Amino acid sequence: MNNLNLIENPLVKRDVTILRDKETNTASFRAALNRVSYAIAIEIAKSFELEQIEVTTPLENTIGYKIKKQIVLVPVLRAGLSMVDAFLKMIPDANVGHIGLQRDEVTLKPIDYYYKAPKKLDESITIVLDPMLATGGSAVASFNSLKQKGANHCMLACLIAAPEGIKKMNEEHPDVPIYTASLDRQLNDVGYILPGLGDAGDRTFGTL
Ligand code: PRP
Ligand code: URA
Repeated sequence: MNNLNLIENPLVKRDVTILRDKETNTASFRAALNRVSYAIAIEIAKSFELEQIEVTTPLENTIGYKIKKQIVLVPVLRAGLSMVDAFLKMIPDANVGHIGLQRDEVTLKPIDYYYKAPKKLDESITIVLDPMLATGGSAVASFNSLKQKGANHCMLACLIAAPEGIKKMNEEHPDVPIYTASLDRQLNDVGYILPGLGDAGDRTFGTL
């Protein structure tokens, strides 16, 4: 069963409200998504293992720390791109892969159109970034591809998760912890999350 981590933070709850509001314009939507992504990055980082190193201050030597494993961020195109900037600000030496998936609007199945990720995934922590976990089809397909290429320490960072998507991840990738800013009620009959925020990609890129 996936470890489900709901980010409980008043600033995040305020920003999720801004993101849900249909009157929020593109610039404010991007800004709120960016702020929530910082909070998710900080929460996820609590699980990173540290390695002790020595550091020399202007006065003496002392103990310092570095993150033990290389971090690989994998935004799912398009909407996942909106989370990259905040994650890279917090983890500047992360590598970034990309997965291109587009949900077929009728079947709701993801159509795979792009894959590029660093080679040494087996030595890294691989974090998939996608604001929406709806049916779970896109997340499951992403981890299928990444695990096939050697990823063995994976996490999912999303903004809003539906119970249907969590169930599918539980069935297909129970080892992957899910971090989300909100756990919503259900999907509607065309696969949109309720109450949700609408189409994350369209609202981020102003393609409504
Ligand atoms: C959205 C979203 C996820 C996917 C979630 O992408 O960003 O990738 O849908 O749905 P699922 O859990 O049912 O697979 P979309 O296909 O709309 O593409 P876009 O990011 O290019 O808008
Ligand atoms: N993708 C979105 O962008 N929003 C949803 O509600 C479901 C899938």
